[in-house]
Amino acid sequence: MRFFTVFDLLINHAKRKNISLDEMYAYFRQRDIKKTQIEELQNSAYIPSELQDSVLSFLNMTELEIALALGRIPEKYQNSFFENISRIAGLLSPDEEENISSVAPFFENEYGKLYNEDCIKVLNTLSSNCVDMVFADPPFNLGKTYDSGVDDNLTTSDYLNWTYQWIDECVRILKPGGRIFIYNIPKWCVYIAGHLSKQLTFWDWIAVDMKFSLPIQSRLYPAHYGLISFIKGTKANTFNNQRIPMQICRHCGGELKDYGGYKAKMNPAGVNVSDVWSDIYPVRHRNSKNRKYNELSVKLLDRVISMSTNPGDVIFDPFGGSGTTYAVAQMLKRRWIGTELGDCEIIKQRLLHPEKDVLQLQKVCEEKNHLFTDDALALRKKNGFWTCESVQRNDNEKPNNEQLTLNMILSGL
Ligand SMILES: C[S@@+](CC[C@H](N)C(=O)[O-])C[C@H]1O[C@@H](n2cnc3c(N)ncnc32)[C@H](O)[C@@H]1O
Repeated sequence: MRFFTVFDLLINHAKRKNISLDEMYAYFRQRDIKKTQIEELQNSAYIPSELQDSVLSFLNMTELEIALALGRIPEKYQNSFFENISRIAGLLSPDEEENISSVAPFFENEYGKLYNEDCIKVLNTLSSNCVDMVFADPPFNLGKTYDSGVDDNLTTSDYLNWTYQWIDECVRILKPGGRIFIYNIPKWCVYIAGHLSKQLTFWDWIAVDMKFSLPIQSRLYPAHYGLISFIKGTKANTFNNQRIPMQICRHCGGELKDYGGYKAKMNPAGVNVSDVWSDIYPVRHRNSKNRKYNELSVKLLDRVISMSTNPGDVIFDPFGGSGTTYAVAQMLKRRWIGTELGDCEIIKQRLLHPEKDVLQLQKVCEEKNHLFTDDALALRKKNGFWTCESVQRNDNEKPNNEQLTLNMILSGL
């Protein structure tokens, strides 16, 4: 499904009428419209009012035709649109389909297959409803350089069209009840969520706290990435609740949230993971990084995979990068299918020599399912804070029900 901007319509029209770009800009210049005003339409699916007449006359289209070309059906035409839908479909003919040939994997082992190919090419070879979960961490179109040479500085419409293309294929290969996770900056998550909502059921929008980002002028300081998640159908096949330690001050060990009288009811196995993840840290240290480009942490992938799949399930990640998804998947005994356009040798070596990942995953697992880690418990005891043991011993502190409810609301539990 393509996302068209007004600029796409202009270019498309110019091509069909053999009008050069210079001639097109000259047409608008005669009407006091600058080239930059036309170029700005690359990011817009709406025509600004001051350009309305000139754009309509250049395209030789009515307002209705333009709305349809941009994927909108104006309210007053909706009934008649649905009444005539089969006639409209009958007037359309498909573009020629590309020949789909199979591709050979770059590396495979008992858990998975890695392809050194464009993800869309690989997706085209996979059958429908064949994977239990999709995790995708695509380039964010922020002008970064990757060794794969992918253009990370596309126009809005080119980035979204490419995004919608691989997403639609991922949706096709996802099993009913399977779940897709897409990690991106909020600017793109908004479009991606809108697009996915047309085909799947919204499940979660997770804000992953992002440390050490750069401020942007005239905007709020960006402090999170979005991890959006949708289900194919209406019911998730798998949800394994994840519990993590309570957040405490690393200096004194005191809790960062006020759990008030509710502390006696805290589960010793930890607090339920919410949709704000503040305990995920970027992989920055040269020692822990597998390559010079961005990579996600073992902790993030462990949480996503453990929560949404079971051993033996199949996970697809179209943007391998350093291979974090595949490494964690197989340590957790899940199967995986992966693609990466750039250097796949890094991923292969990582999977062949998993010692560093095993240590990291061990550390992650040690911290899970406890209200306090061993270090936190020692610090709290030293500084006289309550522990699960101490509150169980002290029954005098039981709050009344009203106070309990208030405390639960205040602490967001
Ligand atoms: C943000 S990185 C993924 C990092 C990964 N999650 C990790 O933890 O290492 C995105 C990756 O997608 C790859 N890529 C970009 N376009 C691609 C395409 N069309 N097909 C396959 N890989 C692609 C890039 O080369 C880059 O390594």
